[in-house]
Amino acid sequence: MSSIGIIMNGVSGRMGYRQHLLRSILAIREQGGVLLSDGSRVQVVPLLVGRDEAKLAELARRHDIADYTTDLDAALADDRWQIYADFLVTKARSVAIRKAIAAGKAIYTEKPTAESFEEALELAQLAEEAGVKNGVVHDKLYLPGLRKLKRLIDSGFFGRILSVRGEFGYWVFEGDWQAAQRPSWNYRSEDGGGIIVDMFPHWSYVLENLFGRVQSVYAQAATEIPERVDERGRPYAATADDAAYAIFQLEGGITAQLNSGWTTRVNRDELVEFQVDGTHGSAVVGLFGCKIQPRNATPKPVWNPDLADEHDYAADWIDSPANEVFENGFKTQWEEFLRHVLEDAPHPYDFLAGARGVQLAEQGLISCRDGRRVLLPEVALPQADALAGAAR
Ligand SMILES: NC(=O)c1ccc[n+]([C@@H]2O[C@H](COP(=O)([O-])OP(=O)(O)OC[C@H]3O[C@@H](n4cnc5c(N)ncnc54)[C@H](O)[C@@H]3O)[C@@H](O)[C@H]2O)c1
Repeated sequence: MSSIGIIMNGVSGRMGYRQHLLRSILAIREQGGVLLSDGSRVQVVPLLVGRDEAKLAELARRHDIADYTTDLDAALADDRWQIYADFLVTKARSVAIRKAIAAGKAIYTEKPTAESFEEALELAQLAEEAGVKNGVVHDKLYLPGLRKLKRLIDSGFFGRILSVRGEFGYWVFEGDWQAAQRPSWNYRSEDGGGIIVDMFPHWSYVLENLFGRVQSVYAQAATEIPERVDERGRPYAATADDAAYAIFQLEGGITAQLNSGWTTRVNRDELVEFQVDGTHGSAVVGLFGCKIQPRNATPKPVWNPDLADEHDYAADWIDSPANEVFENGFKTQWEEFLRHVLEDAPHPYDFLAGARGVQLAEQGLISCRDGRRVLLPEVALPQADALAGAAR
């Protein structure tokens, strides 16, 4: 096969356009296609799908793309397109994915895969039964900072890892005197919004792939800005959480504490930052940066409130180099998924991983509601035999 057709649904949205079309598929097209293990290349051919024909036509013209349509069903029925990719608002996702599974397409989707864990698990089950390859965006794992962190873990730098502390957040404008920099549906729970639903799926795969599966969650969320102004200048009630303070217990005994906020002002090097402390060393990583402090370069602070401390703690850290070129993470994951579809290369970030992310968000919300720590059972697909038995 010298080319592969990709249905890109929701391509005019924020993520669909910038990360998936521009930075991934068009960048792959520009380089002559995705490189396979035998040295050959397969070119990508996008089909733009959405609800607004004029918008699609304009995107197609701007980027020299031959195909666009508002008719998803016709696109799914057409053999020219082998992959269905979904960047819709979360609420609209599962209906479209069900159709794509029924049409036998390989599927790649944004997170969260569904609005409820039950539905996310059902999608994983349906995809498994239909034998369609499936993948979910795990972009944060591909950030240069987190790639460097993975290297540190693999090298044994930390000794025994004790804890992870993370801060994610920035100020999202209310929309009255300055336009908000995120879509208004993010702040309405009835439209699939909320910072727990948005961020916990990310925390799920970041934690399980770097440190260990999440075994329990305690979360406290708040709607700190109760009224915002939408894209058309109309005030609306912000019904979803915009800040979440959470503690996760991980397999292996590591504690992770992650704050997520759209209502905090940045006083860090980057918009997300994790500190990992281990017996032999610590690291602070962001989107790009990674600094380390081994045990042999650790200062010995002494608590003394009577004396101003002159020690420059920031100077105790050493920058960890990249040592390789890290490309855009969305593009790198797209290439892995394409190789998975084309030559069965490994891509472990499937609908079941997506379901674990939705489970963490759902249980996080239950933890907030009930004010208690919630244990997370391991997620697995019901065995085919058990399902057949249940049907009998
Ligand atoms: N991986 C990440 O870092 C990341 C970051 C932000 C958002 N996301 C996820 O990406 C998805 C899209 O988010 P976004 O910020 O791009 O949103 P957006 O509002 O900018 O775009 C959403 C797209 O869905 C379309 N749409 C809206 N309602 C629809 C409906 N009822 N039926 C069909 N199409 C509809 C819109 O036209 C638009 O193309 C969400 O699921 C979100 O959780 C992921």
